[in-house]
Amino acid sequence: MSGTLLRYILRPLGSIQVSSRYAHAQAATALTNKIGNRSQIIFNKESKFGAHNYGPIPVAICRGKDVFVWDVEGNQYYDFLSAYSAANQGHCHPKIIKALKDQADTLTLTSRAFYNDCLGEFEEYITKLFGYDKVLPMNTGVEGGETACKLARKWAYNVKMVKPNQARILFAENNFWGRTLAACSSSSDPDCYKDYGPYMPGLSLIPYNDVAALEKELQDPNVCAYMVEPIQGEAGVNVPDDGYLKKVRELCTKYNVLWIADEVQTGLARTGKRLCVDHEHVRPDIVILGKALSGGVLPVSAVLADDDVMLLIKPGQHGSTFGGNPLASKVAMASLEVLEEEKLAENSERMGQILRSQLKKLPSDIVKLTRGKGLLNAIIINDKYDAWDVCLRLRDNGP
Ligand SMILES: Cc1ncc(COP(=O)(O)O)c(C=O)c1O
Repeated sequence: MSGTLLRYILRPLGSIQVSSRYAHAQAATALTNKIGNRSQIIFNKESKFGAHNYGPIPVAICRGKDVFVWDVEGNQYYDFLSAYSAANQGHCHPKIIKALKDQADTLTLTSRAFYNDCLGEFEEYITKLFGYDKVLPMNTGVEGGETACKLARKWAYNVKMVKPNQARILFAENNFWGRTLAACSSSSDPDCYKDYGPYMPGLSLIPYNDVAALEKELQDPNVCAYMVEPIQGEAGVNVPDDGYLKKVRELCTKYNVLWIADEVQTGLARTGKRLCVDHEHVRPDIVILGKALSGGVLPVSAVLADDDVMLLIKPGQHGSTFGGNPLASKVAMASLEVLEEEKLAENSERMGQILRSQLKKLPSDIVKLTRGKGLLNAIIINDKYDAWDVCLRLRDNGP
């Protein structure tokens, strides 16, 4: 899959998700002519001194520019993963790096014990861009998810008047929203939750893309929120039926339940729109953003909501030392401006169509199915081939 096909892929970077990505720690041994001693030394060092909580594809990357990355052997690759949608603007975008450098020389962190001269400007920009009253800045995507859940519980007890400690939040099976204990407690993936109990109560799973199952659960007056990815990214780019998000909106409104859209992976131009929910012209009550909010430069996440929800959290009731720091504020603003100025959502839509149409031409006994929106795509490979081996073959092909 190298050559002409991939030459069509421009920013934002294409993403082809591969299943069982954590299951192949043995692959560091899978050397080809292109992967030599310099790489092996790096693999060995990580293996000896680092926790084994990842099983990376054996490539040691040392440089990135736009859609390309280079390994320590000097080989060039298209980056089809783009840091799980964190590098939608391309690697080391000059405007984002300039914002980073300029602010790094000036002021990086004040903590929220003081005001800083960057945060308000960023807050105004992002809330106007997405059309919400308020933003709450955090760092990682999972902290964004935690924030949204805390907001939903506050709303349950202060607005919906759910009895103390009875609030329930619904999640979809096969969701992925990170690795905190709340995220593990609401996961259906044993790799995420197994051996991490006891689990947090009040978090329930329902099938994804199943309107009837959602409606049944929403009838419980203790349910305060449904948190869902508009396309399930880590589950394998699981695209719901057309109309599902519209139905989620309708039902959440009908049963007085907050709809939380986890746009950490799908948002910010990745699927061909600014937000993935824009495909169905619907507006969640709470939106979680992360990843490309910093163009892959540093961890920045944000939660958007209107005043009736956001102002339920009072001073001292939630926060983070680094959330809303001046460096992150400047980088996030530049990252959003790049998406808008370079029309990267439109680009993603256009390139995604080309990518999928070309992928569909591949022999169907190898690639059984292609699915996705914009540049968030998956291929299903015939069972007789191993996804890991396909990745290694792509690595060996290069650009
Ligand atoms: C949909 C979704 N939500 C949340 C997260 C967690 O983000 P982070 O790894 O920055 O905590 C991820 C990470 O892949 C994700 O895909």
